[in-house]
Amino acid sequence: MNYQNDFPLIKNRGITYFDSGATTLKPQSVIDAVVNFYTHHTANIHRGIHILSEEATELYEESKEKVANFLNTKPENVIYVKNATEGLNFASAMIDFSKGDKVLTSVTEHHSNLLPWLLLKKQGVIVDFVDIDENGKLNMDELVEKAKGAKVMAFSHASNVIGTINPVSEISKIAREVGAISVIDAAQSVPHLPVNFSKLDVDFLAFSGHKMLAPSGTGGLLVKEGFTKTCTPPIAGGGTIEDVTLTDIKWASGAEKFEGGTPNIEGAIGLGAAVDYLQKIGMKNVRRHELELLNRFYSNIQDLPLTTYGPKPNERTGLVTFTLKSRLDGKMDIHAHDIADFLNARKIAVRSGKHCAHPLHYRLNIPASTRASFHVYNTTDEVDALFLALKEVVEAFS
Ligand code: ALA
Repeated sequence: MNYQNDFPLIKNRGITYFDSGATTLKPQSVIDAVVNFYTHHTANIHRGIHILSEEATELYEESKEKVANFLNTKPENVIYVKNATEGLNFASAMIDFSKGDKVLTSVTEHHSNLLPWLLLKKQGVIVDFVDIDENGKLNMDELVEKAKGAKVMAFSHASNVIGTINPVSEISKIAREVGAISVIDAAQSVPHLPVNFSKLDVDFLAFSGHKMLAPSGTGGLLVKEGFTKTCTPPIAGGGTIEDVTLTDIKWASGAEKFEGGTPNIEGAIGLGAAVDYLQKIGMKNVRRHELELLNRFYSNIQDLPLTTYGPKPNERTGLVTFTLKSRLDGKMDIHAHDIADFLNARKIAVRSGKHCAHPLHYRLNIPASTRASFHVYNTTDEVDALFLALKEVVEAFS
């Protein structure tokens, strides 16, 4: 299937967009949902009894039901946040830490699943890391060993750099065995794979809407049954309480306890439309399509002086991160920004740099990398065009 016609930017700009790991393009149905809200229903939610407020509330709640159904949980366990980063910061703030508690994470993490934990070091929390093997997969023996005594185990579902899909069910099982809370950064999995929150059996899972065809400023923190009742909200304000006096607070009972202030209502409605769009295609088909693109990339590149990072296509999400050498002496890496700049001149958008995963680049011993990340609107013809352009890069720098 070719989905390009659903994405107006492709026709309007003629750009081959391979930067979906950073943010995705938006289908017309998502754009229409947001415009429709602005033109017919604009109002605040949960705060008025006039018709517009009731409609806005209904649309917002409907979006949550769609997200909950998409990820297999209940709407009351879905806290809307502005992105996965905010969700992970919320998770770290919702857990009570004491001096000496240990957080176990990995060397591959995006900064969003690293910095909130490193911040806790000020409180005397210990942060420890699991390394990867030569294929970019987590060392599970090390993980099992280091899990002992952990208070929190915080791992990405899929790496934004090397694409590795981590065995989240296994990680959550290990966490249960050692009595740790599991926190999963699903920013790079929810947009690309079928994700079943209940089946994964984790305590917290965060994702971003803008990486899954939805508007920016949307995302969710999914929490295991019961956490919304026991945890204190990291931010408080309008909409979070059932009642408050000058001395006492009676918190609201569900996710609204964590959604202080007016939320991103139109974004949430766009997120619901993005879920509709993805469900219509089917996440298994999204995955199948991205695997086809990945395999095409790998079959093309045999002759290029290119090094890719991460495991085999069927163990990774739809992205490829690579370094490329000049043929001059076979040693010099062409800088990632030069590659991206060259591709940009050919209307191909990729990301270059450290992709907000500095420690992973230090671990891989590379100063920077170039990343082509795919979504449903990409085609095998575009992957072939990328290959030809990379050949030209090598020639130009040799
Ligand atoms: N996390 C986003 C990326 O990987 C921004 O590019």
